[in-house]
Amino acid sequence: MLTIKQLQDLKQKMHLPKVVTDKSVTTYIGSANGITYSLYTLFPGSTSWINYHPNDHVEYTEKYTILFGELEIDKDGDKIILYPGDVIDASMDHAVHTCYAKETVEILFEMTSFVFERSFTEREIIQRDARKIQEVDGYTYHHCARIRDYSIELWKRISPQESLAVISIGSYFHDIGKLAIPLEVLNKPSKLTNAEWKVIKMHTTLGAELMRNHHIDRIRKAAFIVEEHHERYDGKGYPYGLMGSEISLEASIVAVVDAFDAMTTNRVYRGAMTIEEAIQEMKDGKGTQFNPVVVDEFLKMLEEKNNKWD
Ligand SMILES: [Fe+2]
Repeated sequence: MLTIKQLQDLKQKMHLPKVVTDKSVTTYIGSANGITYSLYTLFPGSTSWINYHPNDHVEYTEKYTILFGELEIDKDGDKIILYPGDVIDASMDHAVHTCYAKETVEILFEMTSFVFERSFTEREIIQRDARKIQEVDGYTYHHCARIRDYSIELWKRISPQESLAVISIGSYFHDIGKLAIPLEVLNKPSKLTNAEWKVIKMHTTLGAELMRNHHIDRIRKAAFIVEEHHERYDGKGYPYGLMGSEISLEASIVAVVDAFDAMTTNRVYRGAMTIEEAIQEMKDGKGTQFNPVVVDEFLKMLEEKNNKWD
């Protein structure tokens, strides 16, 4: 077993493959006996999720050992603090755990090699696509990360049956189709013409098409969220005018989180609402624009966070 000092030195070496996201760095260390070892560094203030990677193989390893820092995890509704030396063994654990790093947290991550390799390569590709979104502007970057984080939390509260990857990818890439829309239309400060509005609406189907043609399975699987995130509960949304339960729960979640984030953020075409005004808007839109179950759970979640949105 390597010492912590050796691990840190290894991490500094640039040639080790890394996946860098907005909240973490995963550094590949090496493999032995079918297990891959990597260092998982969480940035201060970041929230991430641990969950079992379902697979058909009986022998499966997914283990996290805290090396530095304190990690708060939400385990079956209880908040537990993990310290260096503590281990989360997710090998047979189907629950989704929310992890919050108040400070930099270093974790030794052990995983069955073939699962790790597939997931590492996929994450590299997903990050490359995510960077395209991040390059658009600061708003888009923070907006997408917030939508993902709050959507996952809300999804976890309502229906943790689907895969975490699907809601995570679908919510982060919900507006990927906007990359195909001219910026002067997207950020137009004055009223949009009918023709321009039609173009904007196309970001749902364009984005879904982009994802359905992707070679990564979990991106293809998340396309429906992108396609449906502007549908409305009363059937007056787009692109298809789906109603009520015809709209997936995942897309209904993203719709609520996306609308709330848009309301509370300054945009080129209007100023931000206060949190209280936005909460009222959500209540007013319950059962018309938004799925009522999702709105109720969203408002509950917000209240537990002392109505803070950041
Ligand atoms: Fe959108």
